[in-house]
Amino acid sequence: MKKIGALSAFIILTAASCTPKVNVVNEPLKSTAAEIAQGKTIFENACKRCHDLPEPAKYTSVQWVGIMNSMAPKARLNEEQHRWVYDYVVSVK
Ligand code: HEC
Repeated sequence: MKKIGALSAFIILTAASCTPKVNVVNEPLKSTAAEIAQGKTIFENACKRCHDLPEPAKYTSVQWVGIMNSMAPKARLNEEQHRWVYDYVVSVK
């Protein structure tokens, strides 16, 4: 079930990416190195409040879309921070 949830979130995001304002989270290499570095800092600070830091390589990039969709609001990330953290975790492979 979890996998299907992540996958449909991925499809929704992919479909929504035609709108310029929406972040294209399925294109991780669009972020600059500086943004990915910021994502790492945010990840290390914001994502260990409720649980141990997850291992980025433990999940696929598709799974991360679903995880970030549920965790970004918990960590109170804005859209940019959401994308930077996503791009960081999928870059650690
Ligand atoms: C306000 C508390 C809170 C914050 C902040 C938080 N999480 Fe979580 N996280 C949870 C809870 C509760 C669960 C377990 C229940 C669930 O899956 O929703 C969880 C589960 C997870 C899981 C396991 C999901 C799975 O399917 O196995 C991952 C990975 C994760 N969080 C990543 C993150 C990341 C990355 C951040 C930072 C952007 C973050 N979390 C911030 C509360 C939080």
